Amino acid sequence: MKKTQAPKTIAVFGGSNGVGRKFVKQALELGHQLRVLIRPASKSKALEHHPNLTTIYGDALDRSAVLTTIQNASVIFLSIGPGSFSSMGNYPTSKAQRTINEAVNELPEGQIKRMILVSVVGIGSSFEDTPACIQFSGNWIVPKLLDDKRAAEDALKEFCSFKNIEWTALRPAMLNNCKLTRKYHASESTKITMLNAMIGRADVAYFALEEIIEQNLWANTPVTLTCSL
Ligand SMILES: NC(=O)c1ccc[n+]([C@@H]2O[C@H](COP(=O)([O-])OP(=O)(O)OC[C@H]3O[C@@H](n4cnc5c(N)ncnc54)[C@H](OP(=O)(O)O)[C@@H]3O)[C@@H](O)[C@H]2O)c1
Repeated sequence: MKKTQAPKTIAVFGGSNGVGRKFVKQALELGHQLRVLIRPASKSKALEHHPNLTTIYGDALDRSAVLTTIQNASVIFLSIGPGSFSSMGNYPTSKAQRTINEAVNELPEGQIKRMILVSVVGIGSSFEDTPACIQFSGNWIVPKLLDDKRAAEDALKEFCSFKNIEWTALRPAMLNNCKLTRKYHASESTKITMLNAMIGRADVAYFALEEIIEQNLWANTPVTLTCSL
C-alpha cells in the first residue's frame, strides 16, 4: 500500500482477529501509529512486534482499559463481535461502543475526530435490501446479533452527533478471508443478492483506511459494503 501523507494515531478494538487484524496490518504498512486493545485470554496469534504498534491488554468492556487505549488517538476503529459460533450468545459490540463513548468523554474535547464501527448489513432500512434467507436468519437465527449492532450504531450516531465527531457505520455483507482485491461496492444502500453478498475482510479494512481515513469520505452515514460484480 502507498504510505499515508498524514499518519494518524488510531485506537483499534478487535485487532486480534478478522477485519480488525487485517486493519492493523494494512494501517502499519501505511505508516499510522496504532494502539490496539487485546484481551489477555485471546486465543488468536499474537500481533507481530512493530515500532508503530502499542498493544494494551484488557477488555473492550472495561472503561479504564479503553481509556488507556484511546490516549493520543484521533481515530477509533471498533470491529468486535462474537467471533466463533461457540461464542454466539455473547454480543459485545453495543456495550463496547458505549464503553468507548464514556471513555471519549474523559478525553480533551476535539481530540477524537473520527469513529468507525464495523456493523453488519441488515440494520435499519438495509434489512429490506437483503435476500429472504438473510432476513430469515436475522429474524430467527441471529436476531440478538442484529439487535446488538443496531444498538451499537444508535450509540455511535447519537454520541458522535452530540460531540461533533464524524462517524461511519460499516455494514459489510458476508465476510470471507480472500486476498485483498481493492474491488468492492460501497453505497448507503445496496440490494444484496446471492451474487454480491460476499466481501473479503481485507477489503473491508482497505475501505476503512483508504476511503474513510485517507480521503475522509463517508462521514456521518452507514455504508453497505459488498463485492463488486
Ligand atoms: N462473519 C460475518 O460474515 C460478518 C458479516 C458482517 C459483519 N460482521 C461483523 O464484522 C466484525 C468483524 O467480524 P470478524 O468475523 O472479522 O471478526 P471476529 O473474528 O468476530 O473477531 C472478533 C474480534 O473481537 C474481539 N473481541 C470480542 N469481544 C471482545 C471484548 N470484549 N474485548 C476486546 N475484544 C473483543 C476478538 O478478540 P479475541 O481474540 O479475544 O476473541 C476478536 O479480535 C464483527 O463485528 C462482526 O459481527 C461479520
